[in-house]
Amino acid sequence: MQCVWVMVLLLPAALSEKFKVVVPDAPVVGVSGSVVVLPCSVRGLDGQTSMNAEDMNITWSRSDLTDSVVHQYVNHNDLNTDQIPQYRGRTSVFKEELQRGNTSLSLSNIRLTDEGQYSCTVESRYWNDKLSVNLRVEVIGSQPVITVDSYDSETVSLLCKSEGWYPEPALQWMNSRRVNLTAEETETQRVADLYSVKRRVTVKRSDIDTFFCIVTQRDHKKEGHITAAAIYDHLPNPGRTAGIVVGVILLLVLLTVGAVYLYKERRKREEEIRKVRSYLISDGDGRLLHHNLSPRQWDYVEFTLLNSEQELKEFRLKRYVPSDRGVQKLQKVIASSTKALLNDCALTEESCSVLASVLRSVNSLKDLNLNKNKLQDSGVKKLSEGLKSEHCKLETLRLERCSLTEESCSVLASVLRSVNSLKDLNLSKNNLQDSGVKKISEGLKSKHCRLETLSLERCSLTEESCSVLASVLRSVNSLKDLNLSENELQDSGVKELSEGLKSEHCKLEILRLESCSLTEESCSVLVSVLRSVKSLKDLNLTENNLQDSGVKELSEGLKSEHCKLETLSLESCSLTEESCSDLVSVLRSVNSLKDLNLSKNNLLDSGVKKISEGLKSEHCKLETLSLKGCNLTEESCSVLVSVLRSVNSLKDLNLSKNNLLNSGVKKLSEGLKSEHCKLETLRLSNCRITYTGCAALTSALTENPSSALTQLDLNHNQITESGRENISQLKQKFPYLTVNSDLQF
Ligand SMILES: *[C@@H]1O[C@H](CO)[C@@H](O)[C@H](O)[C@H]1NC(C)=O
Repeated sequence: MQCVWVMVLLLPAALSEKFKVVVPDAPVVGVSGSVVVLPCSVRGLDGQTSMNAEDMNITWSRSDLTDSVVHQYVNHNDLNTDQIPQYRGRTSVFKEELQRGNTSLSLSNIRLTDEGQYSCTVESRYWNDKLSVNLRVEVIGSQPVITVDSYDSETVSLLCKSEGWYPEPALQWMNSRRVNLTAEETETQRVADLYSVKRRVTVKRSDIDTFFCIVTQRDHKKEGHITAAAIYDHLPNPGRTAGIVVGVILLLVLLTVGAVYLYKERRKREEEIRKVRSYLISDGDGRLLHHNLSPRQWDYVEFTLLNSEQELKEFRLKRYVPSDRGVQKLQKVIASSTKALLNDCALTEESCSVLASVLRSVNSLKDLNLNKNKLQDSGVKKLSEGLKSEHCKLETLRLERCSLTEESCSVLASVLRSVNSLKDLNLSKNNLQDSGVKKISEGLKSKHCRLETLSLERCSLTEESCSVLASVLRSVNSLKDLNLSENELQDSGVKELSEGLKSEHCKLEILRLESCSLTEESCSVLVSVLRSVKSLKDLNLTENNLQDSGVKELSEGLKSEHCKLETLSLESCSLTEESCSDLVSVLRSVNSLKDLNLSKNNLLDSGVKKISEGLKSEHCKLETLSLKGCNLTEESCSVLVSVLRSVNSLKDLNLSKNNLLNSGVKKLSEGLKSEHCKLETLRLSNCRITYTGCAALTSALTENPSSALTQLDLNHNQITESGRENISQLKQKFPYLTVNSDLQF
């Protein structure tokens, strides 16, 4: 009889193996007085499938206090007879969430004594499981208070105090430029579990300024400040006693005559400052544009920006006043910043005169961005007066899309011919034409020219510009990066250019020839360049009709022992599977390629199959491979898995815009589990993936906690709400992983 009972009890026990309790590993942190949710849920053994917990009994207890009951939910009811008194009326479970297996506990008005370990026990008739989660409570202390503690004839000591923190906060003194001050040791006191901190700083009288005292604790921060005026108020005025009688009489007179006036003035000033302060912190661009600011308000804006370390590092005019008036009013801020972004601000020649005077006086500018303003040649002419000044230390000048012509080129050439510090000049998207390049080349050949980067994208250039630039490359020059994309150079242009590229004086590392109407012929010319030029590291041939025959030629150059090319872009070059065979032979021989872009070519699975043979070679050092929009299917994934599983160097793989489907992603996920997989970025946008594919990725990454993945692009797929849980799980498990998807988090 007994034996039968045991069997009846054991049978359902075997079924119960299908459940488990899941809680987060990291402690839950809450601020004293607020509500926290201690997460706990019942899931299937895979850790994902939700189980219905409506008919289960739930016990939350303090496992660090000999399992004292915090909250109990038994037979569909809250049963709090054994509850510890300190939790009375503050606990609940989410009843509507139980059917989704969510057995979390809500705890309101939390206090320091709530800190500790909580266990979540869930039981059904045949099964039970229990796990613990830690709660940490933080208490935010008082606003720091600053007082003048003592002084002598040379120094003043200030004391900052803040009370009532838990855990212990840090206290830091700073001056108005937000530079840390050296101060005495922080004194910490513990009163009834809470920490009070105070710290003294001593400054010279000559250094008196507005000082800040900042108290920080994890994500919380409180800040106090004392103005120079408030400090002076505490110091005795030596002349005070001598002139006291006269002073009092004068003061009385002044008070009676001017009291009303002063009061009104002060109110007006306070109101003005309050308003401009609210404009400054409002959202979006042009926040000061439509307000007619008074001189006092402009002073306040200038003062605020000049005191912001961040603005001085990179000042963006568009955020405040995108206009000539903005440049006029904020020229001191521009002069004090290292990088000034004045792009797309509707600026005209007028601003150029102001900027010239900024560059002529002492300034910190190294990088000036004037893109997308209609400056015209007359503007550049004015600017050039500043560029030639001995005070100008500008290294980067961006003049993209500024309605410039050949005339600007003559002006800039004269700048390059005089002593100057320019290293990076962007003239793209201006109608310079060949005649313009001819003029600027006179500057490029000057011994004073240190230009390393020159962008001439979409400047209406032809073959003629190429022969001019070749003559520059043949003379002593410092060019490292040349962008000639989107000009009708044609094969004849590349032929001319190659004469310069092969010169011993040429130090070019990056050459961009995107969309230049090139064909196979250019490739045969470039082969001879790759065979002789050792400096070239990055070649961009995107959007040229090179075809397989072109790549065949090119690959001969890539195999040369002199070729040090690391980055090659052949995006949208009308290539097929055949090109892949040639590229494989490159990857299999000694080569330096690290980044290969083959996107938007009709490679098909058969092409990827070939390429993958190269990827497995011991000579292949490829880190980045783009195969976006190459008409690939699930089959390519099977091939790529075998690459990820063997020793390989891939860090960034782009498979977006291919018809991979869930089945493909599932296969790929198998590769992510491998110890050889070093992938940091995986792009799968627009691959028709749904919730299922997403789940496969999640479980693969969960199985490989040492995965290096930090970027996962899942945009434009069919991951609806059902995939949300998967993605948020991933985000929880891998805090450094950024997942892009169409869902909002
Ligand atoms: C449970 O439900 C509550 C209330 O909707 C929610 O705040 C909490 O995040 C859920 N917890 C889990 C583990 O799903």
